[in-house]
Amino acid sequence: MMFIIGITAFSIVLTTALWVKRMRTINRVTSMMNVLYKLGLQRLVMARPKRAQEVTASNGFKVLLPSAMMLPTLEEVLKFRMRSDDIIVATYAKAGTTWVQEIVWLICHDADTQAAKAATLGKRYGFLETPDFADVTQGIQTLESWPKNKRRFMKTHLPFQLLPYELQNSPKGKMICVVRNPKDNCVSLYHFHRMWVGLPEPGTWSEFLTKFCTGQTTSGSWFDHVSKYWQVYQERKSSMYFVSYESLKKGLKGEVKKLATFLERNLTESQIDAIVRHCTFSSMSKNSSTNYTDVARTGAFEFKASKFMRKGEIGDWKNHFTINQSSAFDEMFEQRTKDWTLKFEFEPA
Ligand code: A3P
Repeated sequence: MMFIIGITAFSIVLTTALWVKRMRTINRVTSMMNVLYKLGLQRLVMARPKRAQEVTASNGFKVLLPSAMMLPTLEEVLKFRMRSDDIIVATYAKAGTTWVQEIVWLICHDADTQAAKAATLGKRYGFLETPDFADVTQGIQTLESWPKNKRRFMKTHLPFQLLPYELQNSPKGKMICVVRNPKDNCVSLYHFHRMWVGLPEPGTWSEFLTKFCTGQTTSGSWFDHVSKYWQVYQERKSSMYFVSYESLKKGLKGEVKKLATFLERNLTESQIDAIVRHCTFSSMSKNSSTNYTDVARTGAFEFKASKFMRKGEIGDWKNHFTINQSSAFDEMFEQRTKDWTLKFEFEPA
């Protein structure tokens, strides 16, 4: 009897080990995370990394990641197959991704705000550089198996050089880039580091600002990220669109209309108005499909430290930068962007 139990247990362990060994690394990560999540132990692997780690992707591009465990996912992204009707929202993190995701989704779904409220953004979009996680994040696996007859919506914070090779080599689908003035972008990223336990501690504001200015945050250099997308945009204007956080803030309706034109969607005036009403900061911060409160239950976001929908303003940098920090930043910004044709607004009005 003991012998049979022993053989059975051994066979189960061996079969499981072989099955796990044959799985793609990314699926192993998802399975492990989902098991830990079910047991309520996911915080074990979400424990704050001490510092970001520099890794080199197989195309030689160097990137800072919170964990080297993320590298296999980046390799999958490089090989990812695009579809001709894909929509991708690409940003440096905290530039206004969520805002534009909601606007774009509504434009493409006839301003159906009820449908938008019925499913979180995490269930309407796939996050390209992330493995699927629990019931909150649709990652690259979901994107791969997305029904062929349904348009794919995805977001990414990756530098252009880490996007799928197919997309790097030639336009595919439509890409919307969102940019934000770097002072406010940095402040928002600082608070995001305080709330997301998967990222290294930001340190003091002053320490974080130094990291941001030297490209040492996990999102990499803001300057390199934005300038590369802007450069590509010059050659791909029919498939790429650039919008700034500040222009959305100053004239949401006009920007929604321009986006609708870019996405080749004919919307009525009342549909545009419905999108504008739905996408104000006050509306989106109360909406559980857009304010990421669903992520709180996974333990990944600590809403006590900061909210995802935090302030939603232009110029909050003035509450963080000292006079000296601001003038040093301005000088560095002048230097690094002197050849740029892309301009930024730092003032609310
Ligand atoms: P703050 O931290 O400055 O408040 P992302 O979606 O790229 O992570 O960016 C998040 C930032 O966009 C946050 O900035 C958030 O408040 C802001 N945001 C999101 N939706 C917004 C909206 N409808 N109007 C204005 N700001 C919005």
